[in-house]
Amino acid sequence: MDFVGKNIIVTGGASGIGKAVVEGIVVGGGHAIITDINLDSAEKVREKLGEDVVSCYAVNLGNATETREVFLKILEDFGQIHGLVNNAGIVSTVPFEDVSQSEWDKVISVNLTGVYATISAIYPSMKEKRYGRIVNIASVAAKRGGGLLGTSAYAASKAGVIGLTKAVAREGAEWGVSCNGVCPSFTITPMTSILTDEKMERILNSIPMHRGAEPKEIANVILFYVSDLSSFVTGEISDVDGGVTMDG
Ligand SMILES: NC(=O)c1ccc[n+]([C@@H]2O[C@H](COP(=O)([O-])OP(=O)(O)OC[C@H]3O[C@@H](n4cnc5c(N)ncnc54)[C@H](O)[C@@H]3O)[C@@H](O)[C@H]2O)c1
Repeated sequence: MDFVGKNIIVTGGASGIGKAVVEGIVVGGGHAIITDINLDSAEKVREKLGEDVVSCYAVNLGNATETREVFLKILEDFGQIHGLVNNAGIVSTVPFEDVSQSEWDKVISVNLTGVYATISAIYPSMKEKRYGRIVNIASVAAKRGGGLLGTSAYAASKAGVIGLTKAVAREGAEWGVSCNGVCPSFTITPMTSILTDEKMERILNSIPMHRGAEPKEIANVILFYVSDLSSFVTGEISDVDGGVTMDG
């Protein structure tokens, strides 16, 4: 895909799905800007892919004020941001009765308020330039109430991401700003490495394709939405899930 001349932010671009998105942007000739809480890992991706085509910024998406400051600094450094991929996320796996207030607050602040904070920092500039491609990574958990790895707090945060995606899409459409969502199911990344073999087998058996996704298979759909191939698509939520959801 062609990303020549495009500056694209990828939150959580140091690992898993985000890293695969960063690789795709670089292969397409664009400049990837990784924002991640783990700056060391982000710098390793930069060293591997090229210091002139990847930039890194440390940010904790759980702190909305800090996030807005860092994203406004990125805007100042680059002049124009063409794409924003809200990929970073954390999972919560405990049964509903065991979700503490602090667990709930943390998951919602990183997975949902963090996405609000990044979009609110970048959206006005995209609107002014009449160009922007925002892609938010949700999860099949948002549609099914969890059931694979994430549970209630995670499902609720990702369902919020879907609602936010559609609302930004609705308001941004006339200004050239698209906003789409991607819902992966089980993907082989550090996030899912915590699973026991037994739980892994149960999950894989529930997926019609009977396997997990490689990060690149999720990234391919995200990259489509960031690219101009998706020029007439907005407010769309795509399941990239090996057939788990199959909704209308
Ligand atoms: N892996 C799966 O099976 C799966 C399934 C459905 C949805 N997802 C979603 O896909 C996205 C990427 O997941 P992944 O599996 O690649 O995860 P991952 O754990 O491999 O990578 C997540 C990245 O986000 C960063 N991050 C975490 N908390 C942060 C914070 N507070 N501030 C800034 N950066 C932070 C991490 O440092 C890491 O680089 C997440 O939103 C996740 O919820 C993943």
